[in-house]
Amino acid sequence: MVSVHVKSDIQAHHYPRVGEALLAAIKEVLGNVATDEVINAWSDAYTFLAGVLITKEKEVYKA
Ligand code: HEM
Repeated sequence: MVSVHVKSDIQAHHYPRVGEALLAAIKEVLGNVATDEVINAWSDAYTFLAGVLITKEKEVYKA
């Protein structure tokens, strides 16, 4: 994932917009099932994964 992102010059500031789009899509698809608990869990998961990718991608850009 990191090497594919770096090839496309993905930067940390791109992540929030993608996260918002992901959560909006999840809400649209799940409808009533998308309770606050479900959305918060997806938000936490995305934030965690984005943090891992951003950190690793920064390392590759610096190298
Ligand atoms: C946690 C967040 C993200 C995850 C889990 C994720 C995951 C992935 C994965 C699995 C791939 C395919 C890697 C492969 O082919 O081996 C990919 C590719 C890609 N991602 Fe992400 N991504 C994330 C965020 C972003 C963001 C913020 C952007 C910027 C808008 C982005 C843009 C891209 C692009 C342009 C590709 C290459 C598509 C292609 O040329 O095939 N991703 N990502």
